[in-house]
Amino acid sequence: MNKGLKLAAAVLCAAVLGACGKGDGGAAAGDGAITVGFSQVGAESEWRTANTRSVKEALAAPEFNLKFSDAQQKQENQIKALRSFIAQGVDVIAFSPVVESGWETVLREAKAAGIPVVLTDRAVAVSDESLYATFIGSDFVEEGRKAARWLIEDSEGQAGPVRVVELQGTVGSAPANDRMKGFKEILGQDPRFTIVRSQSGDFTRAKGKEVMEAFLKAEGPGGIDVLFAHNDDMAIGAIQAIEAAGLKPGEDIRIVSIDGVRGAFEAMKAGKLNATIECNPLLGPQLADLVRDVHAGRPVPRRVEVEEGVFTREQAAAELPRRKY
Ligand code: AHR
Repeated sequence: MNKGLKLAAAVLCAAVLGACGKGDGGAAAGDGAITVGFSQVGAESEWRTANTRSVKEALAAPEFNLKFSDAQQKQENQIKALRSFIAQGVDVIAFSPVVESGWETVLREAKAAGIPVVLTDRAVAVSDESLYATFIGSDFVEEGRKAARWLIEDSEGQAGPVRVVELQGTVGSAPANDRMKGFKEILGQDPRFTIVRSQSGDFTRAKGKEVMEAFLKAEGPGGIDVLFAHNDDMAIGAIQAIEAAGLKPGEDIRIVSIDGVRGAFEAMKAGKLNATIECNPLLGPQLADLVRDVHAGRPVPRRVEVEEGVFTREQAAAELPRRKY
């Protein structure tokens, strides 16, 4: 190839790559697929595993080209992933933010690049709402309220004081902030209840177990009546700690948690968990619809919330075979 031809080939190649960076973003040239950069929180819980599966399945359709990144529960990893999606010129960014704050700068960069952002599962706290197109997920405040309502109902006719310990989710995350808020809002109306300890177990079984061990040690024998865990995984870890302390979970200490994963239904069936508040992780199909719409420039609602129930151990055996996650 002579010098002139080589130069022409290089210019053509650069032009093609440039176009890819702006629109098709890595999808095979000319296939018209929507390239979606998805940054997931991590793999901290049974809920998260089900959520990842749902997102990957829905965005595996040939109309999408998915770039998936796992942040391992670290905000800095998510910011890096978002910047890399922007540099690659993806069509749409979707992500489930580890924590609520600290997103303004990177979201402004996405906006400046003309890439719409869809929030899934967890919200962000930003002063400029135009930094994201839409949100799909649960009402975490309402989930906290439901847990407190269940507890008040389950304590009917019981005299106080009722000593409650709380296992919080990841510090600064929307589900931890909101579930705590909703739970306190309702429980605070009944003077029998006191939250005696509240600490983060980072949404994991291992941490849930570790923090519950510390709670049991600090409060002493008979010092805890109820555990409210912000997710089922931490409750399952705490059950191990309660049993190791020679107590009966579900009897000596009543337990209510959030998610409604299969592991929680198994624990309820065994009588070790009293109730779980559903938080639906199967967001993939609705996320795919929103991605399609924002990419096409169609109007989308600011918030899309999913329907969720409350399940007690009396319902567990009948419900278990029907659970999808
Ligand atoms: O953001 C949803 C929460 O994150 C789930 O309740 C929890 O299990 C997960 O880790």
